[in-house]
Amino acid sequence: MKAAFLLVVVVGCSGDASGGSVEGPKIFETMCASCHGPGGKPTEQMVARMNVRDLTAPEFRARVTKELVAEQVRKGSANKLMPPLETALKPEQIEAVAAWVASPDFVKGR
Ligand code: HEC
Repeated sequence: MKAAFLLVVVVGCSGDASGGSVEGPKIFETMCASCHGPGGKPTEQMVARMNVRDLTAPEFRARVTKELVAEQVRKGSANKLMPPLETALKPEQIEAVAAWVASPDFVKGR
């Protein structure tokens, strides 16, 4: 009983801003949701302020690929409103968050 409890505590607290996690949803909530909104839908204020993209919009879902998202995360947007996150995230984290954003589950029941 005690051992099981300790295990949960240890697993629950690992490191840096993104938790060093390679789980797409977790990385999204820590690194992307501040601008793109939880679940990828930004608030009206955020859209008005920086023209942030709604990642749940049908227009975007129709053309999203893992490569598109990964490239955007590495390089940021051309107008620099989205910063390049190449140095903030490990390559495997970029892969994981890109796969999550591009997956159909991203827009399901959130
Ligand atoms: C500081 C705010 C900010 C953060 C943090 C941020 N973004 Fe963005 N993102 C933007 C803005 C603003 C745009 C629209 C840029 C433009 O006008 O071209 C954008 C655009 C995008 C696009 C392009 C959509 C398209 O239409 O092609 C993708 C994909 C994207 N973001 C994914 C992410 C992911 C994944 C993360 C987290 C790893 C993230 N963003 C973090 C602000 C942010």
